[in-house]
Amino acid sequence: MFEYRLSDDTWGKEELEAIQEVIRSNRYTMGPKTAEFEEQFAAFFGAKYAVMVNSGSSANLIAIAALIYSEKLKAGDEVIVPAVSWSTTYYPLQQYGLKLKFVDIDVDTLNLDLKQVEEALTEKTKAVFAVNLLGNPIDYDYLQEICDRRNLILIEDNCESLGAKFKGKYTGTFGLLGTFSTFYSHHICTMEGGVIVTDDKNLFHLMKSLRAHGWTREMPHNSPLYSKKENDFYEQFNFIFPGYNVRPLEMEAAIGIKQIDKIETIIKNRRENASKFISEIGAVNGIKLQKEVGESSWFGFSMVLEGELEGRRDELIKLLTENGIENRPIVAGNFTKNHVIKYFDYEVHNELTNADYIHENGFFVGNHSELQFESVKLIKKVLMNEF
Ligand SMILES: Cc1ncc(COP(=O)(O)O)c(C=O)c1O
Repeated sequence: MFEYRLSDDTWGKEELEAIQEVIRSNRYTMGPKTAEFEEQFAAFFGAKYAVMVNSGSSANLIAIAALIYSEKLKAGDEVIVPAVSWSTTYYPLQQYGLKLKFVDIDVDTLNLDLKQVEEALTEKTKAVFAVNLLGNPIDYDYLQEICDRRNLILIEDNCESLGAKFKGKYTGTFGLLGTFSTFYSHHICTMEGGVIVTDDKNLFHLMKSLRAHGWTREMPHNSPLYSKKENDFYEQFNFIFPGYNVRPLEMEAAIGIKQIDKIETIIKNRRENASKFISEIGAVNGIKLQKEVGESSWFGFSMVLEGELEGRRDELIKLLTENGIENRPIVAGNFTKNHVIKYFDYEVHNELTNADYIHENGFFVGNHSELQFESVKLIKKVLMNEF
């Protein structure tokens, strides 16, 4: 058992009571709680629409599927992606026959190197799937300028960065679509869960259909996508897109409603923990911390070994683990090094020097929703005294 875990629990008695309420209602499958959660989630983040699904991975899948069925993207189009992210950022692109163009990350921010994004663009580039890694916002001024200039669709995988802001605006709300994860160990937890936000009504309606069998049932009568018949019987089982069943459960949504109330406190605490972490550990020689852009929601604390510590990650990981400090690689490292890449249509722009470096020399430890100054001292002690 780890003394300092990757994450802590964000639930109190309110979430347990919310579960009980669902049990009492006897309505377990997607229904009014999901609709309420979606409305509150969209309002909190300042988006017009939100669609809840059963995971952040499904959020990415539905987002990309919606771009395909709205004909904003088609098989063979090129999409720019960072070389470092989670596997399910990439999978929907592969599954829909899109060509991935991997671009290196910035070694300080761990997000896409935007200068290299500019160089990587071709006539075939149609979208950028940007990822805010470990809570850290990308430089949206620069990214949006690139997307506007080249008429590219901006999609945001914000699954690790709920509650982060850039110039006062929540990340996940800059692009045409933004995705979130509410899996345990993320900023808020609904057990499993994910959300897509958008301001685009067509995409919103499309995603409601794609989430549930590709049917029309949850589409309003005035949808620009499809005119429902007045015959409700017919519209119970009427299928218009090759969709999925990635619906959330009412319990997940009911918990989510309680978690939304806590977001501000959770993010405030995570940011205070980060200040402490930076002031204590930022001064340790040979350890590079993530450089914050905007206001990070600090999913965790990445450390990249440099100078004399380069190449010594295995020793440090052993020490941290022996001292009860849970740790992980920096997401999937350089994703193109994973065996699964053989199934992809992809190209690497230039070299992935920084992704390769963090693949060998990077790791992260968690951050918590409660204040945790003592744990920061423990990590520092291990780094300074034993390593
Ligand atoms: C960047 C990123 N995208 C997508 C996901 C998938 O989210 P989930 O675990 O809810 O499927 C994760 C998971 O942590 C992630 O880090």
